[in-house]
Amino acid sequence: MKSHEKAFLHVLVGAKPVKYTIKITSPEKSKAGLLALCVFADGSLPPMSRVVDEAARGRLVDLISSGELDEKAGSTLLLHGLAGVPAERVLLVSLGKSGALNDKAWRNALGAAGRALAHTQARDGAIALEDAVLPPGRDLAWALRQATRILSDHAYRFDAPRAKDENAKRGARKIAFLLSSEPDPSQKEALLHGQAIAEGMALAKDLANLGANVCTPARLAETALALGKRFEFDVDVLDRADMEKLGMGALLSVARGSRREPRFIVMHYRGGDRHGKTRKERHSRARPIVLVGKGITFDSGGISLKPGAEMDEMKYDMCGAACVIGAFKAIALMALPIEVIGLVPATENMPDGDASRPGDVVRSMSGQTIEILNTDAEGRLILCDALTYAERFEPDCVIDIATLTGACVVALGRIPSGLLSTDDDLADELTKSGLDAGDRVWRLPLWEEYQELLKSNFADMANIGGRFGGAITGAAFLSRFAGAYKWAHLDIAGTAWLSGEAKGATGRPLPLLGEFLIGRATARGH
Ligand code: BES
Ligand code: MN
Ligand code: ZN
Repeated sequence: MKSHEKAFLHVLVGAKPVKYTIKITSPEKSKAGLLALCVFADGSLPPMSRVVDEAARGRLVDLISSGELDEKAGSTLLLHGLAGVPAERVLLVSLGKSGALNDKAWRNALGAAGRALAHTQARDGAIALEDAVLPPGRDLAWALRQATRILSDHAYRFDAPRAKDENAKRGARKIAFLLSSEPDPSQKEALLHGQAIAEGMALAKDLANLGANVCTPARLAETALALGKRFEFDVDVLDRADMEKLGMGALLSVARGSRREPRFIVMHYRGGDRHGKTRKERHSRARPIVLVGKGITFDSGGISLKPGAEMDEMKYDMCGAACVIGAFKAIALMALPIEVIGLVPATENMPDGDASRPGDVVRSMSGQTIEILNTDAEGRLILCDALTYAERFEPDCVIDIATLTGACVVALGRIPSGLLSTDDDLADELTKSGLDAGDRVWRLPLWEEYQELLKSNFADMANIGGRFGGAITGAAFLSRFAGAYKWAHLDIAGTAWLSGEAKGATGRPLPLLGEFLIGRATARGH
């Protein structure tokens, strides 16, 4: 199926994104419905907040010095009808102590502003940004890229199919960044980049939050096709027969347990050759970056059935796929001058009468055979064939993104994603991207010794490695299929969604990937 054969544009409809602009307005003149101002806990005011304080006859300093605003970075104080300024509401946001300002404190403050802007009755918001409120070593372009993304993250709402549409109208849909001087081109671009990543994240969250009865492998494919059509990149969707021809026996061994047809989605964005400035640049084609996303639209465990508690959350087992599809939306919106390929093996893992059993031996596309000792270790089975498929693109590097192991959550908790890689430079680059984006990873070792745990008496390897180091043995398994290129694996089992009251997809690790891809595009002399 080629992208032009079918238009599935309806599957892309989601909530309208927040619109961002830059205004060269002094904040005491801003008529915004909600004006957010950064202040320090010790009462020292950055220049753009000082002018508002002066217009309001020192009211801000009074409030802060009387202890109305909590010291902690991210605490807020909302003032209605502040005398002397035209803004309807003024939100004071604490950056903590001025000497202690760092990335984390800044993100907390922006997050707090985002929460207020997402719940306010005001239709439009404004945030004053200037060098004085930035963490050490960060510039305005960075701040604009992060701020747009953080604010949109908070503005996101899943359009749940309820009988009555509740509080759909709340929140500012237009936000202006107030700067003290004309933005340079990199700052203008940062705004677009942050917005693009936010839109990719919103799509990823939408796909992930849908129930598995709606978000099927076919639906993922339709979404990719619709994106390809709208943004003019190539999308190919392989069906079961195509996969059989390719010998994707590992992927198909998972798919056979489900009544829903599997799909293998191939997205190809060619920004690499079109955007070169000179002939020579256009022809010194860089090798493509390949992103692979685990697309298990529901993971019941298969015959090795999971326990019932929280099993609904296994609809999120396609968050890797959602992130890759969302990344393509972001890449296309940014028009990055790089070549990127997205691969999404998509299927359910279900316990049908024809499902794979523990003890079954299957042959992967690579020719290596696998003894399936646990049908719940299915992610690696679909990913290994995708990793082999990736070889044909002679990639610069391959990054797979997968909710692969519960063991990763045990090891690292829900703060960083797990990073495992056979290439130190790529691992460092991803680690740095994660820090810059506030979407951190933590690297786990991938030493040779772990490979022994995958020994099988009946095949080249088993699909599980025993009780210990599960996140590592999962990655060790994958590494056997990723020998032809630089490779990194992101285990997002602990970071892709939140449980409990705040249950919902996070869109991670798209912020990290966005930062990484922008970095690659910039390195190419964009
Ligand atoms: N999708 C799960 C991993 C998972 C579990 C992610 C819980 C987030 C929360 C994966 O397919 C799986 O079931 N992995 C098994 C592997 C085991 C059988 C070796 C696991 O982690 O228990
Ligand atoms: Mn599983
Ligand atoms: Zn799974």
